Amino acid sequence: MSSYEKPDHWSIKAQKEGYPARSVYKLKELDEKFGLFRFGGADFRALDLGAAPGSWSLYALRKFSGRFFLTAVDLAPLSRQYDKGLFDGANFFFAQGDMTDAAVRGTLQEKGPYKLVMCDAAPATTGNRSVDTLRSLVLAEEALSYAETCLAPGGNLAVKVFQGGDTAALLKRIREIFKTGKSFKPAACRSESFETYYVGLERR
Ligand SMILES: C[S@@+](CC[C@H](N)C(=O)[O-])C[C@H]1O[C@@H](n2cnc3c(N)ncnc32)[C@H](O)[C@@H]1O
Repeated sequence: MSSYEKPDHWSIKAQKEGYPARSVYKLKELDEKFGLFRFGGADFRALDLGAAPGSWSLYALRKFSGRFFLTAVDLAPLSRQYDKGLFDGANFFFAQGDMTDAAVRGTLQEKGPYKLVMCDAAPATTGNRSVDTLRSLVLAEEALSYAETCLAPGGNLAVKVFQGGDTAALLKRIREIFKTGKSFKPAACRSESFETYYVGLERR
């Protein structure tokens, strides 16, 4: 069994706390460190790109107990194992589709403007690091493009990237668009993983 298959501390914790994926703890750390959700309130809208199985969406919906609007997209459906009806709420919209598709983009854009764009999207990995890094970069660039078109001034971005390739150029662009641009690897990332997160705070 590889370390990717073996349930670790974070996977067991996620199960106990009612989240379908361990990735929720990466968002929690990002939120606690950078205050991603600091806006809150009735007019707060967030966009979750690459949302399945749904831990990040559940984190946001639980945190705000229905006081804000969340839009989410993924190629795959969300897991209904732990949501207790939250994914059926009037303050949540899920589109099953490709975030790079123009029609999907139009639908997501209509639900904005957003105060937060978060993207944990990852390509199906091939094991070839250059291919995987390049595919991840395409998704991260797409997320930045969503941030440019759908994020309200003052809004925040958190996006996953696989380290390598031209990620430096991506961070440079984030720093041009946002007052602050940072790279941060949460402790909940697997030690062998080459993923990290870029955060843009306060869109200009
Ligand atoms: C690591 S998972 C996300 C986990 C999620 N944040 C959670 O906490 O449950 C990455 C997701 O990105 C999605 N994805 C990859 N390419 C995508 C695309 N082009 N459009 C939409 N979703 C995509 C995958 O289907 C996968 O579900």
